Amino acid sequence: MKQIQLSSFGIENLKLVNAPDPGKPNKGEVLVRMRAASLNFRDNLVIAGKYNPKFPTPMVPCSDGAGEVIEVGDGVSEFQVGDRVLATFAPHWIADKATHQEMRYTLGGPLDGTLREYILFSETGLVKMPKHLSFEEGATLPCAALTAWSAFHIYSRLVAGEIVVIQGTGGVSLFGLQFAKLSGAKVILTSSSNEKIEKAKSLGADFCINYKETPDWGKEVRSLTEKTGADHIVEVGGAGTLEQSIAACRPFGVIHLIGILAGRSGELNLLPAVMNNIKIQGIVVGGRKAFQEMNRAIESGGLKPIVDKIFPMEETREALDYLKSGSHFGKIVISI
Ligand SMILES: NC(=O)c1ccc[n+]([C@@H]2O[C@H](COP(=O)([O-])OP(=O)(O)OC[C@H]3O[C@@H](n4cnc5c(N)ncnc54)[C@H](OP(=O)(O)O)[C@@H]3O)[C@@H](O)[C@H]2O)c1
Repeated sequence: MKQIQLSSFGIENLKLVNAPDPGKPNKGEVLVRMRAASLNFRDNLVIAGKYNPKFPTPMVPCSDGAGEVIEVGDGVSEFQVGDRVLATFAPHWIADKATHQEMRYTLGGPLDGTLREYILFSETGLVKMPKHLSFEEGATLPCAALTAWSAFHIYSRLVAGEIVVIQGTGGVSLFGLQFAKLSGAKVILTSSSNEKIEKAKSLGADFCINYKETPDWGKEVRSLTEKTGADHIVEVGGAGTLEQSIAACRPFGVIHLIGILAGRSGELNLLPAVMNNIKIQGIVVGGRKAFQEMNRAIESGGLKPIVDKIFPMEETREALDYLKSGSHFGKIVISI
């Protein structure tokens, strides 16, 4: 079978190779013909050896993927041949509260990832794909979508009528926008690009702020909310944006700390967070149960992920470079 292999860290060591087929499923296992994978910010870091230099190589990158069941082992009860399925980011993470071990054992490092034609999964490492989605759309869900979903529905509770600030227009952020609208929330979105702002408005963003033109956007959020502030902030910037997020947040609001695109450390004035009872909640993806709940909501809401561009497997490096450029809007997918 064909697979994308990283022989050692560095994008120059990423190659399309022939590898042995995985063989027949053992008890409790499911053999899947993969059809699409999607890229996350993390994948470039893993490939460069910057995410965790202790990850073993050679390895197959990418955590997210969709495919079709072609054979099941004895004892498999949830899946049958022909089912369209999605890989879970962490195959041993089932319930909402996981152990350290369950959260760290993830596809695309340290485990082999989804950029290959056939994969043997344990039954619990898969979920059924929402019926109305293509493989390319479904492949975007395991990491980015579940992270945004967990923020609003697992680690806090988003209520209709609340105000949500979304930073940026990448994978996690656009799912955040779509889930917030699905729940009846009002969305204020920040972006570096006026062109992307227009696209975000067409997806339902109620107000947008260009964070390059308005670096003090926290104040702007307060004036857009009659000085109250937002109930939820989807924080993908990290240390570089946290002060603005605190300024934008209402008393007793939540900052969902998901990414560190604008820095992992820095000098911060945290006093306003204390004085306003602001909760800063770290978020890592989510478990299988949350994934299934999210898929039900996606299906019943008819939500369609925003796919910016689909690349063939042969152009995986180009796809990763495109992700790195930051010019995308939503998700980048590789067809397998
Ligand atoms: N904790 C978790 O479980 C988890 C899961 C997934 C992702 N993440 C993290 O979340 C972050 C985003 O991931 P992703 O996959 O969505 O990345 P992505 O698709 O590459 O999106 C990045 C987008 O973030 C925006 N951005 C960059 N710097 C910003 C800043 N200073 N202020 C506001 N927006 C900024 C940009 O939007 P504009 O072009 O519109 O400016 C950019 O397009 C990464 O740090 C990633 O590691 C964490």
